[in-house]
Amino acid sequence: MDITNILTPFLEADGKPVSGGKLAAELGVTRVSIWTRLEQLRQEGFVFEASPRIGYTLIKRPEQVHPVLLVSILKRLIATGKYKLKAPLPEIHHGEHLDSTNNEAVRRLSEGQAAPFVISAATQTMGRGRLGRIWDSRHKKNLYLSFAFRPQSLPDKIQAITLVLGLRLCAHLAEKYNIPAQIKWPNDIMCNGRKIAGILTEARIDSDQIRDIVLGIGLNVNAPSLDFPFEMRDIVTSLSQEKGEPIDINDAAADCILSILTSYEQFSERGRGSDFETLWKKYDSLAGKTVVIRPTNNKGGESTTGVVQGIDANGCLVVRDEAGTKHVFSAGEITLAK
Ligand code: BTN
Repeated sequence: MDITNILTPFLEADGKPVSGGKLAAELGVTRVSIWTRLEQLRQEGFVFEASPRIGYTLIKRPEQVHPVLLVSILKRLIATGKYKLKAPLPEIHHGEHLDSTNNEAVRRLSEGQAAPFVISAATQTMGRGRLGRIWDSRHKKNLYLSFAFRPQSLPDKIQAITLVLGLRLCAHLAEKYNIPAQIKWPNDIMCNGRKIAGILTEARIDSDQIRDIVLGIGLNVNAPSLDFPFEMRDIVTSLSQEKGEPIDINDAAADCILSILTSYEQFSERGRGSDFETLWKKYDSLAGKTVVIRPTNNKGGESTTGVVQGIDANGCLVVRDEAGTKHVFSAGEITLAK
């Protein structure tokens, strides 16, 4: 082990003290180097309590994504078997201020960087949402992540990848935080009627194959309502607002990353998977609801009002209007009818 892994023994100790001598021996460095590194980490938001003859106890972690801590947590989650990632952990790149993690991922893909890889940002200056919207990304309290893949599959798989990964993320949030997370087709994650996360999928397609695909996830972690623009406060939420307590953002990032990476591996092996329908029924926020849907694909067209029947084998939303006619949408913007 080298000094960059200094946080691992603290994670293993799980809140108990770690002796300075043991740290120095395990990492193969002097006690002075340990002390110096801990001082650096203190500047970065960690709090270590030093007890003479006992050691150091990690009592507080940074309140924003800390790339070294994040990688240490990721490795630990894999080592403990919580996530069964078959491939090695991909590279995680973290930027303090990026324009957009999706843009950064596309730049790296264009330069030929091997995929998969993950981009994380503390803040984004040009965070993008679906349909050309802005994704408010000024605050370091939330997660901004992009996952870059080169799937080597047909373009018609893009919708399925997005739905499967979105659904898995929803199921993960519901299970880990015990919140009523639901998916709103195609890629909003809702909680108690408010949006807690959004997914922006962007793919580049060669003649008949997906060249690469970037899945951007914005997950509201610790932002209080007042951090959001006034007009959004009633329609968005965050994990901490739902739980009524602060959430460890590095833990949240690590779990989100491994949940997406393992789901992607499963998708590559067996497509939607036999549990897709069951999970969709469990987490679908729209089934049986009357909605107004405005098509947003190239064809555009009139809005339709009708009752949501579910999704078809291609992941398209099926809506039945008042006259009983079935409409199938591959893309659209949905509002609940009043
Ligand atoms: C939406 O619900 O409209 C999708 C929002 C996606 C936001 C994320 S934040 C990380 C990634 N980078 C971006 O610029 N957008 C996505």
